[in-house]
Formats: sequence, structure tokens, C-alpha cells
Amino acid sequence: MGGLVILDAAQTTRQLPFDGLVEALRHGFIEGCQLPERHHHTLTREGELDATLLLMPAWTDPGKGRSYLGVKLVTVVPGNAARELPGLVSTYILFDGLTGEQLALMDGNTITGRRTAATSALAASYLSRPDSSKLLVLGAGRVGSLIPEAYQAVRPIETVAVWDINPDAARRLTDQLVNQGFRASVADDLERAVKSADIVSTATLATTPIVRGAWLQPGTHVDLIGAFTPQMREADDDVIRRASLYIDTTEAFHEAGDIVQPIEHGIISKETVRGTLAQLCKTSQPARGSDDEITCFKAVGSGLADLVSAKMVYRRLR
Ligand SMILES: NC(=O)c1ccc[n+]([C@@H]2O[C@H](COP(=O)([O-])OP(=O)(O)OC[C@H]3O[C@@H](n4cnc5c(N)ncnc54)[C@H](O)[C@@H]3O)[C@@H](O)[C@H]2O)c1
Repeated sequence: MGGLVILDAAQTTRQLPFDGLVEALRHGFIEGCQLPERHHHTLTREGELDATLLLMPAWTDPGKGRSYLGVKLVTVVPGNAARELPGLVSTYILFDGLTGEQLALMDGNTITGRRTAATSALAASYLSRPDSSKLLVLGAGRVGSLIPEAYQAVRPIETVAVWDINPDAARRLTDQLVNQGFRASVADDLERAVKSADIVSTATLATTPIVRGAWLQPGTHVDLIGAFTPQMREADDDVIRRASLYIDTTEAFHEAGDIVQPIEHGIISKETVRGTLAQLCKTSQPARGSDDEITCFKAVGSGLADLVSAKMVYRRLR
């Protein structure tokens, strides 16, 4: 196959089945890649909030096997809400890592959503109880809607409860999950839903805690995907205090309110965090000590997972 391949959202989705993606990410986190800091550019707008251009580059060095270089480009335009247009648009460009030849251009939102859900499933393959069958999803948006299918690649998920600040969004996702074959229902009582879940996964825009540590039963795994600035929280201090803590990358120490704030307030120290996802993938020891242990994984997202996903799309097409 030569030339530049262009894939829309549906075509990108078809090349990223979750079972294959979770395994590709497992290898990718073990191998690592070059990851310069992401670039943020502020774009001023007359009479509306500033927009942002975000560039996320990543590459593997030429050596054994083919190397790849990729950049995710994201535009975030808050003013688009008034125009009834999406506020965030993203494209992924993949190049040959040696020659710089452009290989593929694909839908960045699809890459982000699927790699995020698959990264959480990968972490849960080390941290959640192997018999986990009851999943609670908080946040019924783009990422939340993919979590049940991603987790099904690693755990025997049978029932899914969905909670969202917007009950219509929770109902819509529940209907979609029933169509996909899940036993799914809307969670009206959040405390009860957390108490009866094996895995609690949050992908919301919450700025104050929605999951309380006091509600967690022994053996629960908590997966925190939202709260991407130091000011935002999805879990309270008791979650962080009670759980064995893991993070996707050390960026979480700077960006994730659920980690930054408890450290600032002396609830935990950096050393309380037991490891990163790369470390989990590299050790053969089981990370979970007992069926009663409460575990928590906090992700802020990584350009490595984007590159692994884009590479998988391109390789499957060939
Ligand atoms: N860690 C990562 O790698 C990664 C990657 C992508 C997105 N994210 C984050 O995941 C979150 C969800 O992203 P998305 O693209 O699915 O967004 P989205 O806008 O599609 O969905 C967000 C959902 O959360 C709900 N919500 C908003 N505020 C809430 C609150 N206070 N309590 C409960 N529900 C609330 C909304 O009603 C909506 O249904 C965002 O915070 C996003 O930044 C993280």
C-alpha cells in the first residue's frame, strides 16, 4: 500500500477492536517511545473565550523493525457551543519514523476515545479482581460509552450501571448498551451503585468529587479518567487514602487533581503511588495482593497510547 491513507471515524473505529488494542497497548507501554511535552497554543477570539491548539507528538526511534512518528492535533473552541458545532476536533497524522513519509490521516477523536477506554481496561487487567462482573460507569459521554466494551476484553462484565449528572445521557447510553447485549440500567442512587460495583469507572467533567471512599466495598477497583487539571476532582480524599494507587504516567503528578491535591494536603505523598502503567506491564508479579484490596488507577492520557493505536490502524490496513 503506498500513498497517504485517509480514514474517517467509522473507518478508524473498525481497525481498533478492543481485544487487539489492549494487547497492542500492553506491548507499547513495555517498549515505550519518545514523548516530548505537548504544546498548547492559545488562540484569541473577539467576544468569546480563547480557543486552544494542542499538538501531541510521539515517535519510536529507527532501529529494529519499522519506526513511526505521529502527531495528534486538537482544536478546542469553547465558542463553538453557540454555533452548535463540536467544541473539540482532533486529527491524527502518522508518518514513517525513518523517512518522514506521511502514511495515514485518521480521526483523532476516535483514537482518543478508544485508546483511553482500552488503557483503563489494560490497567484493570492487573488491578481489578479477575471475577469482576459488575461495572458502574459514571459519565455517559464519548469515553464513558466505550468503557463497557473495552472492559469486556479483559473481564467477564455482565451488568453495567450508568450514572450521569444528565439523566437523559445516562438513559441514552443504557439503551445503546442493551442493544450491544449488556444487562444495563440507569443508576439512580449513586451510593448504592458504588457499593454494589466490582469496578467503578469515571469519565466525567466533574470538578468536585463524585465518588466517596466511604462507599467502597473491599475488592473494588476504581478507574478515574476525567479530572484533567490540578483543580478538578472525581474522587474524594478517602478514595485516595484507602486504595492502592497507580497512575498511567508521571504526568499525573502535575495534571491530575485527584493526585495533586491529596499530595498538596499531605493526605498521601508521591511515594504512596505504587507505580505507573508501564511498570505494571513490565512486572510479572500480580499487582493486587488480595481479593479484599481496594485499587485505584488514575489516567491523564498519553501520546504513547495514541501512537500505538494509530500504528495498529495502519498495520491492519496493510
Ligand atoms: N485520561 C484520558 O486519557 C482522557 C482522554 C479523553 C478524555 N478524558 C476526559 O474524560 C472526561 C470525559 O470525556 P468525554 O470526551 O467522554 O466527554 P463528554 O463531554 O463526551 O462526556 C462527559 C459526560 O460527563 C457528564 N458530566 C459532566 N459533568 C458531570 C458531573 N459533574 N458529574 C457527572 N457527570 C458529569 C456529561 O453529562 C457527559 O455525559 C473528560 O474529563 C475528558 O477530559 C480523559
